[in-house]
Amino acid sequence: MPELLKPPEPQALCRSDELAERGTAVVFDVMLWRAPARAFALRFDGRVVAYLNRCAHVPAEMDWNPGEFLDDTKEFILCSIHGAVYEPAGGHCVGGPCGGGRLMVLDVEEREGQVYWYPSADIQPAFAD
Ligand code: FES
Repeated sequence: MPELLKPPEPQALCRSDELAERGTAVVFDVMLWRAPARAFALRFDGRVVAYLNRCAHVPAEMDWNPGEFLDDTKEFILCSIHGAVYEPAGGHCVGGPCGGGRLMVLDVEEREGQVYWYPSADIQPAFAD
């Protein structure tokens, strides 16, 4: 009989009011394939979205200042390195050198004034030691 997978435990990320509409993202540490990495969450059109902070062009962090991912128009996520452009609602590349790629999505949930993210097979919580 196959071993049943336990559902992922929600990980508390931040209070809802810390994520202003199209404002600064909350950046947090994760483990990607057992190596340290960072992810970010921001609010776009009222919904919280979260992605690995890793460009689809070159595996580098994208924020031009810590937590600043959106372009001047606040319409797109912009990689500060070579200008790849992603649509914030789904993380799909829509311009620049990301070649039709997509940011890695983290599942998030918002309830009772709190934002949670859900680990996956690829992305796990980073625990302080
Ligand atoms: S690393 Fe993001 S556009 Fe090149």
